[in-house]
Amino acid sequence: MRVSVKNEAELEEFMSRPSARLVDYVAGLDGDIAIVGAAGKIGVTLAMMASRAVKAARTAKKVYAVSRFSDPSARERIEKEGVTAIACDLLDQDAVAKLPKAANVLFLAGRKFGTQGAQDLTWATNTLAPANVARRYSKSRIVAYSTGCVYDFTSAVSGGSVERDPPEATGEYAQSTLGRERVFEYYSRAFGTKVCQFRLNYAIDLRYGVLRDIADKVYAGLPVDLSSPSYNCIWQGDVLERTILSLALCDSPPVILNISGPETASVRWTAGEFALRFGKPAVFKGEERPEARTYLNNAAKSFKIFGYPTVSLLEMIDMTAEWIASGGSSLGKPTHFEVTDGKY
Ligand SMILES: NC(=O)c1ccc[n+]([C@@H]2O[C@H](COP(=O)([O-])OP(=O)(O)OC[C@H]3O[C@@H](n4cnc5c(N)ncnc54)[C@H](OP(=O)(O)O)[C@@H]3O)[C@@H](O)[C@H]2O)c1
Repeated sequence: MRVSVKNEAELEEFMSRPSARLVDYVAGLDGDIAIVGAAGKIGVTLAMMASRAVKAARTAKKVYAVSRFSDPSARERIEKEGVTAIACDLLDQDAVAKLPKAANVLFLAGRKFGTQGAQDLTWATNTLAPANVARRYSKSRIVAYSTGCVYDFTSAVSGGSVERDPPEATGEYAQSTLGRERVFEYYSRAFGTKVCQFRLNYAIDLRYGVLRDIADKVYAGLPVDLSSPSYNCIWQGDVLERTILSLALCDSPPVILNISGPETASVRWTAGEFALRFGKPAVFKGEERPEARTYLNNAAKSFKIFGYPTVSLLEMIDMTAEWIASGGSSLGKPTHFEVTDGKY
């Protein structure tokens, strides 16, 4: 597949285009869909895909997007797609209790960056907000976003962390996301709520993501850090489709599902691919240690369920390079995938 997107509208259109199997799934899904924590990097395009799938399935289902909408443009973009935006602070228990009924909840709210120095707010966002939502939606199915950072660091030769590995969260961000999982698990056991813990490692948009981080460095002639020598990533459009399809997997006690792409990709190789496309040399700092341990997410179970992602790594690299070379926008939000002390 060769995809070329020229601007943000085309990018979001491509990313949020629902597949035929998603439209079929949504056609048979009972109840409305609420996307909670919808104004962030993933939620906006997820709301768009859900709404487009509902329209294509010709169902009367409502799609709600719940967030504070700190960024008002997020609200405008999803309302254009027919999504009903609801401004709500998820830490306000009374406000959450009044949210509309929805049999299907996709939970994305979270806090990562800025944790150092405001650990309390990260813990509140990552555990109290889930508690409020789990209580409000105790009769719903909930796909609860989580992260591969709940696992311990691991080496590339291990093949990456799998769902049965015990969590070993480093640092307060990762610990609080494990707290988020435990809160959903607690309410799932208490109320019988069906939940899927959706452990994602690195969605790729062209405006942010691991590839954008590496490409920006190469483009600017800055050194690429090799201390975390490998990573996994997946096209965000594939993440969105897998999110909605995961409603079918929800169970009590919760099901855990790793979500990423199939490669354990080398940072050096990736920088080299960008260097070729930009016609500039890649510069590095540090060196790969074979025993280096980082976050690596083995998503084999998800491929058995959903198949491989539709956009390949080299396609993502081509698109990212083209986007940067033509001055494409950035969210200015690096992933900090190279961090291994758990401090964000
Ligand atoms: N992006 C990735 O590659 C990645 C990788 C691993 C895990 N994840 C997980 O996936 C989830 C979604 O990722 P993302 O990148 O879209 O995160 P994000 O950009 O941080 O978006 C989360 C959104 O949640 C909303 N929110 C936070 N606190 C809230 C509150 N008190 N009340 C209402 N809304 C609140 C915020 O929007 P408002 O300010 O408008 O409320 C925010 O934009 C995160 O929880 C993260 O743990 C993402």
